[in-house]
Amino acid sequence: MTIILGFEGTAWNLSVALVNEERVLYEAESTYEPKYGGIHPREAAHHHAAELKNVVLRALRGAKEEEKEGFSLDRIAAISFSQGPGMGPCLRTVATAARALAITLKIPLIGVNHCIAHIEIGRWRCGAKDPVVLYVSGANSQVLAYRSGRYRVLGETLDIGIGNALDKFARYLGLSHPGGPKIEELAKSRGTNYRYMPYIVKGMDFSFSGLTTAAKDAIGRHPDAKADICYSFQETAFAMLTEVTERAMAHCGKDEILLVGGVGANRRLQQMLRTMSEDRGARFNVPEKRYLKDNGSMIAYLGLLMLKTGATISIEESQIKPNYRPDDVPVTWRGEIEKKRGNSEER
Ligand code: ATP
Ligand code: FE2
Repeated sequence: MTIILGFEGTAWNLSVALVNEERVLYEAESTYEPKYGGIHPREAAHHHAAELKNVVLRALRGAKEEEKEGFSLDRIAAISFSQGPGMGPCLRTVATAARALAITLKIPLIGVNHCIAHIEIGRWRCGAKDPVVLYVSGANSQVLAYRSGRYRVLGETLDIGIGNALDKFARYLGLSHPGGPKIEELAKSRGTNYRYMPYIVKGMDFSFSGLTTAAKDAIGRHPDAKADICYSFQETAFAMLTEVTERAMAHCGKDEILLVGGVGANRRLQQMLRTMSEDRGARFNVPEKRYLKDNGSMIAYLGLLMLKTGATISIEESQIKPNYRPDDVPVTWRGEIEKKRGNSEER
């Protein structure tokens, strides 16, 4: 079986995983936690540089224990890494390690788009065939669907990602990073009264920065209503995302939803999407939490799919792409794979 070693390190999480066609052999990670405020790109990169050797060794040791067929370095067929999008200093640090390892082991290098890795690991873990994807994380919020060799972005945020919006508001409330889970907790435990929040959907796009400002203003006026305001923030933002996802399903005629990205762990968002999909007779998919947030397994897994279609790169082509968009990537692996499964959707 083919084994790929994948590096993830676009932002807060440094993660290295070894994956084969059937399963994740082992994943090791180290998380950067800001002392105060949000993620500082250079500090995060320093964290990654300091931890890289350790994390790679842990992943290799773990794979050795896990792999029944016997594991040695010469069984690794290729190295994949997150080429973008992400924070420049973090991407650069991790790309350097990936290049060095590929050169040392004399094996191919594969540059992976981080957003598409979120999608493909979600499809793999859930067995989703051809879903409309809602990808919601710190820096990104997009609705996508596959069509004619690309993941098309059908709708996206016009300003900040929903995760960043939640984190910013949480910081304003004095909560530490990451704020999303803490807001979820507050909303769930005590939030009941809906307070007006701006609902901003423009065509198929949405915006969250006005909502964040409005929530901060509301706290200024009603400092004792934190839980209600967290609840209202979530209800408004998640309704916007659900509306656009539903419209994308109607436009594309697809009957599956796949939720991916760190914010996908939110139970209220999952519930809204599940209700909407049930109402439409569609199937709702969400992978386990460890595959929603940033993880090395998704980079290794997409690397494996890309290796099979020969999508490797030279060292010269391996420069980082901080603004890498998912629709820039020719999806070379889906046609062949789906054809084997006899899916007539793929043309
Ligand atoms: P990307 O590079 O894809 O933008 P990322 O670096 O933001 O990824 P992720 O792990 O995908 O990393 O997402 C992190 C975000 O998810 C943070 O903003 C965090 O607050 C948010 N988050 C995590 N759990 C929850 C939750 N239960 N509810 C809401 N938000 C959550
Ligand atoms: Fe991510």
